[in-house]
Amino acid sequence: METLDQLVQQAAADFAAAVDGAALEQAKARYLGKSGSLTERLKALGKLAPDERREAGAAINRAKDAIEQALDACRQALREAALLAQLAAEALDVTLPGRGGAPGGLHPVSRTLERVEALFGSIGFIVADGPEIETDWHNFTALNTPENHPARSMHDTFYLEGHDDVLLRTHTSPVQIRAMQEHVARHAEREHMPELRLIAPGRVYRVDSDATHSPMFHQVEGLWVGENVSFADLKGVIADFLRKFFETEDLQVRFRPSFFPFTEPSAEIDVAFMSGALEGRWLEIAGCGMVHPNVLRFGGFDPERYTGFAFGMGPDRLTMLRYGVNDLRLFFEGDLRFLSQFR
Ligand code: DAH
Repeated sequence: METLDQLVQQAAADFAAAVDGAALEQAKARYLGKSGSLTERLKALGKLAPDERREAGAAINRAKDAIEQALDACRQALREAALLAQLAAEALDVTLPGRGGAPGGLHPVSRTLERVEALFGSIGFIVADGPEIETDWHNFTALNTPENHPARSMHDTFYLEGHDDVLLRTHTSPVQIRAMQEHVARHAEREHMPELRLIAPGRVYRVDSDATHSPMFHQVEGLWVGENVSFADLKGVIADFLRKFFETEDLQVRFRPSFFPFTEPSAEIDVAFMSGALEGRWLEIAGCGMVHPNVLRFGGFDPERYTGFAFGMGPDRLTMLRYGVNDLRLFFEGDLRFLSQFR
């Protein structure tokens, strides 16, 4: 029969050879189980004489401790190996290229607005804005459109429920009033007020929806007020802007007499390209005119001393023309197949 030392060595070797927890438990049973070899030796103690029994018992218990230690060490080693294997299996290769991180892009209408801001900025126009939820007074009354004025029915207005004097602005023109009042308040002390030159891009709302109308759309308001601002300035500024915006000299601009309550005289601005798919067709892109004296007065300017021109154009329309898009609604549906073409 092996010595206890051999038994301990044999057990340690068996444990070390176990490939997993189950194999280790089986190996343990062979030594420490009910009929394991060490257990058998303990059972055999009963056959020894008492004084031999004590010594042999102590030796067997030392062997048992040694076997249990070897067992614990192997259990621990297996747990660590399992953890390492799991970490290796779940390892993340941070050097792999990322998945699908396609760059975003500006909305085509935002591109147009940025272009408009840059072009007008280059001739001294600041960018102004105002609230989209506007008072009836700013949206209509101060723009020379008193209650019951027939021009109010030109706009199909969204009113706020329970407030017949609060609405979603139907145009960016109310920004003219707010900006003029602010300008006058800031410079009231001065003998010569500085000129006010601004554009006001933003969202506007009307009860309207078809291929060329959306209930929400964009406008860019323009305003230039000073001591000697004339219709000739208006024509020059607009014609120059359009050539720069469309990046072509091959284009004609015409001012067609029209009516707006807040300008007198008023005109529609049409543009025609001399080449390309739209060659020779007049397209309406803006309304404009000389600011009506009543509007100047509501803004705080003395109409005997100051004149100004204003315009309101449709950047959605400009975007459609620039990129050859024929349905306005495409801009507002959020379909990436459409939008990503402008990246
Ligand atoms: N507010 C007008 C509209 O929405 C557009 C417009 C016309 C603005 C003439 C102006 C202007 O500033 O002078 O239809």
